[in-house]
Amino acid sequence: ELREVLSRFDGCALAKTATNLVFGDGSGEARVVLVGEAPGSEEDRRGLPFVGPSGQLLDRMLASIGLPRGDVFISNTVFWRPPGNRSPSSGEVAVCMPFLERIIELIDPLILVALGGPAANALLGRGESIGKLRGRWFTYQTPRLARPVATTALFHPAYLLRTPGQKRLAWRDLLALRHKLDDLAG
Ligand code: URA
Repeated sequence: ELREVLSRFDGCALAKTATNLVFGDGSGEARVVLVGEAPGSEEDRRGLPFVGPSGQLLDRMLASIGLPRGDVFISNTVFWRPPGNRSPSSGEVAVCMPFLERIIELIDPLILVALGGPAANALLGRGESIGKLRGRWFTYQTPRLARPVATTALFHPAYLLRTPGQKRLAWRDLLALRHKLDDLAG
């Protein structure tokens, strides 16, 4: 239903230039929700998040800690591709945020993961760089969530493709994510 509402929503100008709505992908029962920044061209073409090159790396990252893509839920701070792959504006992110919040509330995950600095700042509002935010745990809360959600940030897979030397830290962060999930899931 939320996807349906969003497909009819005309409050975000990005929808006019995009081919498809990119609502999200995965399980409604997911214990982990991941949030990227914005759909790229492949995502726009297929209407699914993280299906281009960075999506393939993300799938491998998740598989390495025993989390198949179908077990998590993946979305973005905006639901349509910004033209020319520019960064979404703060206004575009703000207009989409209530929908992202609702996705998180409906799934009510154990863990929320921001992929990259822009998503981390949209969710956590701390105004710190990804280098400072990764490897730490925060909480995400909305009035409608029964309890705060443990939240962390990972380097964006597109950044890891450009900067493979950071994969060492990303691997450490993935292991911490696995341990946190095991702790919380009991
Ligand atoms: N990068 C993102 O941040 N999101 C996607 O869906 C794809 C690439």
